[in-house]
Amino acid sequence: MSKSKDREHFEDYREQTAVKHEILAAYLPAYFHILKAGNKNLLLIDGFAGRGTYTNSTTGDSVDGSPLRAIKLIAETPAFHDKVSTIFIESDDVLFSQLETTVGEFYAQHQEIRKPHCIHGTFAQRVGEVLSTVNGKLAPTFLFVDPCGVSGASFDTIRAVMKCDKCEAFVFFNIDGVRRIAGLEKLSHVLIDLMGSQPRAQKLYDALRETDDTGKREMLILSHYRAALKE
Ligand SMILES: C[S@@+](CC[C@H](N)C(=O)[O-])C[C@H]1O[C@@H](n2cnc3c(N)ncnc32)[C@H](O)[C@@H]1O
Repeated sequence: MSKSKDREHFEDYREQTAVKHEILAAYLPAYFHILKAGNKNLLLIDGFAGRGTYTNSTTGDSVDGSPLRAIKLIAETPAFHDKVSTIFIESDDVLFSQLETTVGEFYAQHQEIRKPHCIHGTFAQRVGEVLSTVNGKLAPTFLFVDPCGVSGASFDTIRAVMKCDKCEAFVFFNIDGVRRIAGLEKLSHVLIDLMGSQPRAQKLYDALRETDDTGKREMLILSHYRAALKE
């Protein structure tokens, strides 16, 4: 997705985004509650963090994005304050600067939580650096993967995090985006990155060419991705 499309994404708070945030709000604290007793350190990595807020296009009101929602959930629960670290990664320079400001302002009022880390760069590169800093051994980590389309959701990076003990990934990708790239004349490197290998991507690409039925294509994408994660 282009830079301008990524930026436009935040100018409208769509139902799909609201549903995603509802799932996150239920899933994230549940994960930390389960793991808080046996672990001194827990981590959230929001790999496609965005600018921190959305604008409701009808009312003009500001609506919290995933980074603000996450740190508010942490601030609401004293048991998370000195346990949960947060890393927010964003590649777009304008959105990153807005993210830093939004997260920084919240932290200035809530210093009871661990200081959030906002990192400018791409998901694959920055998570790779975090992993090498800790020699591949992350504290139990909730990984949120939320690209605007499909591009950048590196399978290898998700796999490297999932290899660490007690880590969990919430992966949200645009299925229309997968359908679109699978419809291209040649196998796209984006599909290879998403599926983690050329043979896996080729298998999905070939399977999708066998049917025009939207429902069946959707099920094929999900089942191939699920099988890849299980591998
Ligand atoms: C769907 S939006 C994220 C929304 C955010 N998770 C939320 O719910 O508030 C995707 C974001 O990822 C950023 N992005 C795109 N490619 C990226 C990459 N490879 N690494 C990190 N961020 C990326 C875009 O600039 C955009 O801000």
